[in-house]
Amino acid sequence: MPTVESSPTLTVDQISKVYVDLRSGRSVAALRKVSFELREGDFVCILGPSGCGKSTLLKIIAGLIKPSAGSVCIHGRQIHGPGADRGMIFQEYALYPWKTVQDNVEFGLIIKGEPRAKRAARAREFIELVGLRGFEDRYPRELSGGMKQRVAVARALANDPQLLLLDEPFAAVDALTRQRLQEEIGRISERTKMTMLFVTHSVDEAAFLADRIIVLTPRPGEIQEIVDVDLKRPRTWKAVSENQQFTQLTARMMNALHETASGRESPVREPEVVTREP
Ligand SMILES: Nc1ncnc2c1ncn2[C@@H]1O[C@H](COP(=O)(O)OP(=O)(O)OP(=O)(O)O)[C@@H](O)[C@H]1O
Ligand SMILES: [Mg+2]
Repeated sequence: MPTVESSPTLTVDQISKVYVDLRSGRSVAALRKVSFELREGDFVCILGPSGCGKSTLLKIIAGLIKPSAGSVCIHGRQIHGPGADRGMIFQEYALYPWKTVQDNVEFGLIIKGEPRAKRAARAREFIELVGLRGFEDRYPRELSGGMKQRVAVARALANDPQLLLLDEPFAAVDALTRQRLQEEIGRISERTKMTMLFVTHSVDEAAFLADRIIVLTPRPGEIQEIVDVDLKRPRTWKAVSENQQFTQLTARMMNALHETASGRESPVREPEVVTREP
């Protein structure tokens, strides 16, 4: 039995998920036997096509939904629900509409009991980091989609979780801002050594950010391969786009994704396949 100190930050063991519609009795297999580990300071991306179960996997790790089989451990302890040890940034903006930017970012710090001056300063630091200085007193309804997502990033970072779960956080942001935020999140992970699990369907984004990419198959999501990304840090888009290793890696992964997609059901084909197997 490993000690708590030596155990991985995150252990995902044989996770499967079948969604069952109780009214119709129909079921959808979203994930099948997914296992992997994250060590402290890892930056790992989960890459897979739309509908392959990425958000489902992240919500299971966050403790928001229960798996049909398998377990999730943080530092060797099985989780049974959400906890302050994990922060989550959702695909959709999840801000409190009645709170200002500043109060949204401070929210988790209030719960933690941080003194007022300290939490205000910390919130300002992260608001500045995501490029929203001057917007502290605005409400979410006054912000663009991309700006709302930056607030969500600032709020999660300010809470200093042991594991940060990010579900396509920059998908709604314009291309330039996205690259800037990707560079920032890379720098933040280096500086804070925060362990990050980042979901994306973009090969480029995964290769730019990750130390390791876990590639999922189309639904039901199974691990297709785990790819190490051996590019030096800090990474900038300018340097990476001229780097042959990066272009070769992304081309190879794109081909692999196309091959698997053509060999399995189409991720865009609806209605869902009905199955009663986990
Ligand atoms: N609450 C639910 N009830 C029933 N089926 C669900 C539920 N949530 C997700 N699903 C189904 O499970 C599968 C995986 O969904 P999920 O949202 O995890 O995919 P995803 O990989 O995050 O997709 P995207 O890249 O489009 O966000 C999909 O077929 C989806 O329709
Ligand atoms: Mg999703």
